[in-house]
Order: sequence, then structure tokens, then C-alpha cells
Amino acid sequence: MNVNNKKLGILLSGRGSNFLAIAESIDAGRILGAEVAVVISNRAEAAGIAAARERGLNALVIEARGRKRADHDAEMIAALREHRVDLVCLAGYMRLLSPEFVRAFPQRILNIHPSLLPAFPGLDAQRQALEYGVQVSGCTVHVVDEELDHGVIILQRAVPVLPGDDEAALSARILAEEHLAYSQAIARVLSGNYAIVGRRYEAR
Ligand code: GRF
Repeated sequence: MNVNNKKLGILLSGRGSNFLAIAESIDAGRILGAEVAVVISNRAEAAGIAAARERGLNALVIEARGRKRADHDAEMIAALREHRVDLVCLAGYMRLLSPEFVRAFPQRILNIHPSLLPAFPGLDAQRQALEYGVQVSGCTVHVVDEELDHGVIILQRAVPVLPGDDEAALSARILAEEHLAYSQAIARVLSGNYAIVGRRYEAR
């Protein structure tokens, strides 16, 4: 813990492999001056939350089931503020965020999506890509705004779609790139060496 570190708040719902890739990047010095301040899951059974506990991180379950989105999000906002989070990273967080949540952290929420946006937003992006017949897909790290999978693109990494690919094969190829992309994008944003011009991220 270093008081000068930028504090990341991770939201997840499942496996947590992107969270682990981020945590490992911090440990390996690939994201400088950052620490994971808190990991929050909306599902108690998420493997990612067990992994966060194993690493000795602050890990919270804020159960979403049966609750109004606004109430659930208000509790998450309070937890993130309590942990003085500078940047919120959605890492397989499978629930829509309310406009109030997005406004609570303006330009300070990132998401990773398993397609080259604006192609194939929403659920099952890898299946959508296969069904459409694209020959290149990939992943996108973007700033979260009030529209689904829509905000300014920080970084994309592409992969080929190969003959014979099924959803699992394409997903695995994309996931390997996600693990690289998310850490690079976080480092970019935390460096502050960029400007957003219209919809464009421009390194400075
Ligand atoms: C990833 O494919 C990510 O792009 C999407 O949800 C999946 C989460 O995987 N948003 P994991 O929980 O990080 O392993």
C-alpha cells in the first residue's frame, strides 16, 4: 500500500481472469503506481471474488439479485468511494450500470469487450462475430458512458478468425489478447498522457 498509488476498483461477476491479469501486471511492474483497492462482485459464487480473497485483497459481494438497479448501484458507489477508488475497471461485470453510477465516476470507468467495437456490442460477441462471418475480431477497452459498449476507445487488439473456429476457440484466442490489452489500457489512462478529441483517444 502506497498513499500515492492510484486506486483501482474492479467489478466482476464471474471467472475473473481479466482481474487476475490486471493484478499480475501490477505485481510485475507493468502498471506503475497503481494498486487494487477493492474487488466487488454482484454474485457470491463468482470465482473472481475467491481469487481476490486468496490474494489478500479487499473483496466484497454486493448481491444484485432481487434488488433495484439504483439501490444496488448506490451501494457499490459508496463502497468504491469508501476505498477512494480513482479508476473503476469492469472485468466481466455482467450487469448494466445505471446512469447515476456512470455519472458518479465520469470518464473514470473502463470496460473490456470481446469484439472490435462498434461491431458486435452486447452479449455473446464472439458468437455474433462467428455467425456474421468476419475474418478478424479482437477486443476493445473503452471508457464507459451511458450507452452499452459505446464510450471512447482506449485500445484494441485484433485476432484472426480461423477456419474451423468454434465459439470456444475464438473466445480463447481473444481472451489471451484481453489480458494484454486491459493492463496496457489502464497504464495509458493512469499515465494521463492523452487527450480525448471528439471520440478519439490521442496519446500525448
Ligand atoms: C471477457 O470476455 C470480457 O471481455 C467480457 O466478459 C469476459 C470476462 O471474463 N466482458 P473474465 O471473468 O475476466 O475471465
